[in-house]
Amino acid sequence: MGKWKLRLEKVSWREEAKKRVALEAVKHVEDGFVVGLGSGSTAAYVIQEIGRLMRQGSLRVLGVPSSSQAMLLAVRSGIPLTTLDEYPTLDLVIDGADEVDKKLDMIKGGGGALTREKIVASAAKQVVIVADETKLVEKLGTSFRVPVEILPFALATATASIKELGGKPLLREGKGKVGAVVTDNGNYIVDVDFGAITDAEELNQLLKLIPGVIETGLFIGIADIVYLGKPDGIIKLEK
Ligand code: A5P
Repeated sequence: MGKWKLRLEKVSWREEAKKRVALEAVKHVEDGFVVGLGSGSTAAYVIQEIGRLMRQGSLRVLGVPSSSQAMLLAVRSGIPLTTLDEYPTLDLVIDGADEVDKKLDMIKGGGGALTREKIVASAAKQVVIVADETKLVEKLGTSFRVPVEILPFALATATASIKELGGKPLLREGKGKVGAVVTDNGNYIVDVDFGAITDAEELNQLLKLIPGVIETGLFIGIADIVYLGKPDGIIKLEK
């Protein structure tokens, strides 16, 4: 009984912390902005809050979703959508993360949206990240594998090259569907265990040289501000 209570308390503080950082991040959204909409459960709170402010009439923005999840939630929340073709430069993106270090480098892609998330983030003038404090690590790779999106045709050759770099790749399999997860771009994801990563920038470059690797979940030098939710407040990390 005690064990369950502790577990429930942990779950609920994290959800509260995620909501708190989402509300804080939405303060960066200004009227008339074109905003990149992130993916995952924390970014979902951001989308819902932007939708609430729009319905209330206190904010007008256009959104560019980074995944089918973000797109559907934005539509349900009443946020009008646009595309990078129409707005190649975004004012802001708010997104989640799976791991963050003190340099603001990150691992992303737990939700499989890494490629579009990286494109949307690279188009944005400002990148604000929201997560609970359990995502903060000393070194990337400590608690989360590096997701790598791979063209299905290159699965065997690319995973062999990833092993040569010292990684242990695992093809991501679906829940609610047998077989491999297929991304919004029609590709596969391998989650690669590299252990604690000493040079994430170099690793990112080496992975991207492998034919068939579409994108990696290593987001280096991309975040400007990171809000981390604690049980009793918020930590703000800035570049
Ligand atoms: C989606 O592909 C990811 O990059 C998410 O941003 C990341 O997994 C964070 O998700 P949560 O906010 O659900 O932890």
